[in-house]
Amino acid sequence: MNFAVLASGNGSNLQAIIKAVAAKKIKAKLVAVVSDKADAFCLERGRKAKIASYYINPKDFASREAFDRRVVGQLQEAEVDFVVLAGYMRLLSPYFIKQYEDKILNIHPSLLPAFKGTQAIKDAFDYGVKVTGPTVHFVVDEMDAGAIIMQAPLEITSKDTLETLSAKIHKAEHKIYPQAIDLFARGKLHRDGRRVSIR
Ligand code: GRF
Repeated sequence: MNFAVLASGNGSNLQAIIKAVAAKKIKAKLVAVVSDKADAFCLERGRKAKIASYYINPKDFASREAFDRRVVGQLQEAEVDFVVLAGYMRLLSPYFIKQYEDKILNIHPSLLPAFKGTQAIKDAFDYGVKVTGPTVHFVVDEMDAGAIIMQAPLEITSKDTLETLSAKIHKAEHKIYPQAIDLFARGKLHRDGRRVSIR
């Protein structure tokens, strides 16, 4: 199975994925990295690992779907079987999702369905919840709403700051995302409506 990672930023999850592929902890081939941000560090990480890494500028396209058609074209050219979002800051169009239905994974830094959106770590911290953590889920045509694959609950202690909590969440992400990707690549994830079982 071939897969691509789409990212917009730092790419620490991409790095963990690259490492897991190299160590054969993910039994699939990472064939492309795509970013919508020219100067995103994830592109450097991809290039350094000798993975075809593409920057596609959204401003070159008249609509979200036109941009996504270009991205999907790139993925098809690379013979991508499934797609991994890792800090990709764009909503996928229905067109994109249809091309890779049930074959797009995302990681979100809160225990969904709590704290959807782009400020999830801060929102959970400010709310005062005692438990939070990352969620790996399938991507559907609604933000942070697809069926849940894996979660890693973490305690927020009175010593935690937003910084220590963020670090804990990222560390957990780097552990569970490669695991979930490997399970998906090996055909071990079975979705029945909202429920995903591993077998
Ligand atoms: C992660 O916290 C992930 O949950 C969210 O975006 C962040 C990406 O971080 N979707 P990085 O670019 O992988 O370091």
